[in-house]
Amino acid sequence: MYRHPIHSFKYKNNELFCEGVKVSAIVKKAGTPCYIYSHTTIVEHFRKIKHAFKAVDPVICFSMKANSNLAVLKTLVNEGAGLDIVSGGELKKALLVKANPQKIAYASVGKTDEEIVEAIRAGILLFNVESKPELLNINRIALRLKKKVQVALRINPDIEAPTHEKINTGSLKKKFGIDLKTAREIFLNAGQYKNLFINGVHIHIGSQITKSAPFLEAIEKALAFIDELSMDGVRIDFFDIGGGLGIFYKDETPQTAKAYAAKVLPLLKGRNFRLIMEPGRFVVGNAGIFVTRKLYTKDNGVKKFMIVDAGMNDFLRPSLYDAYHEIVPVKKNKAKPIVCDVVGPICESGDVFAHDRKVAAAKDGEYLVMMSAGAYGYVMSSNYNVRPRAAEVMVKGKNWAIVQKRESFNDLVRGASIPGFLK
Ligand code: LLP
Repeated sequence: MYRHPIHSFKYKNNELFCEGVKVSAIVKKAGTPCYIYSHTTIVEHFRKIKHAFKAVDPVICFSMKANSNLAVLKTLVNEGAGLDIVSGGELKKALLVKANPQKIAYASVGKTDEEIVEAIRAGILLFNVESKPELLNINRIALRLKKKVQVALRINPDIEAPTHEKINTGSLKKKFGIDLKTAREIFLNAGQYKNLFINGVHIHIGSQITKSAPFLEAIEKALAFIDELSMDGVRIDFFDIGGGLGIFYKDETPQTAKAYAAKVLPLLKGRNFRLIMEPGRFVVGNAGIFVTRKLYTKDNGVKKFMIVDAGMNDFLRPSLYDAYHEIVPVKKNKAKPIVCDVVGPICESGDVFAHDRKVAAAKDGEYLVMMSAGAYGYVMSSNYNVRPRAAEVMVKGKNWAIVQKRESFNDLVRGASIPGFLK
């Protein structure tokens, strides 16, 4: 039987609770589809990393692409987290929640001039740079702004991490990072980039990696690279080991933060650089659920389908990565579970949350929950089929609040216009 390991989501008298609040009470007011986040779990998971690595006091930059809800970000900033950002929009959200700019790392393979200017003006800790043209451009802009900015080179360690093809980033077949030869040449000629301190090394090999071996292989490769540089007199002040820690969805037994630290910390002994980490999924993945309402079932003689009010536009992971998310009822009943495809209303065959899954036989109008939806859930939603995006709720103890209002139709057509020549 499925047992969700996160204690913030538990049944009491057959009713699912998030911390001290009934999920049914929330959705009665907030409606569905709806994401619900547990404040306690977010904090606990962030602290797990912080405590595991406390010996080296890393800058832990929460990877806000995983969940950029302002209340979630504020929760983490209050815990002392920094942020890993990938766009001008993420920078603006980071500043809205008053993240310390000196704890912001800016990655992404493509940064526009405007984004670079804003990040330099905001005084971020460093740019994680992924190509030579990008480096030249940041140098040019920094010169214009009369600033000197810190840069880490994202190196591509050419490692195939065992995870889904679409979230595997550490090999040279992928667009990410700079090959070691080019990176070395840049470090050795760093003097030519007058407005940059090129003093960091960054790696990120992929996401949802449940074993430590690929991380260790990448870290060892990066450390050997750093050692070679130091023999040539290059000093490295920052080593950013990225994110990627896998979590529990179905039957995984992912490494814990403690076990990860126990393997990584010995490798870092005696080094003078500051460690940077960029966990996303690990912090928020298990801290969120996605609630939908069952509309009805249909049976075409070959298959049964349970149709719910959420679609792939609201929660994309199952369609995009065939990701498994456990589906449980908000209220347990005694009816025999049914085997069916759980599907949304969108006009695509890929709009499926679960294939041939044994799920609770919810009555029409009852609520179902997709577990572990706190990372890469709401942030990847869209307005496909002119569907307003879902609401987001945060629970803390017995308190809860809507932290992102459901979009309205007016939100969807704001900015749209019919030109005069069509009237
Ligand atoms: N740092 C960098 C440079 C990244 O590209 C990412 C994620 C992270 C950190 C955080 O990785 P995490 O700790 O969350 O694994 N949408 C996909 C995941 C895409 C990950 C993209 N990069 C999914 O739903 O599985």
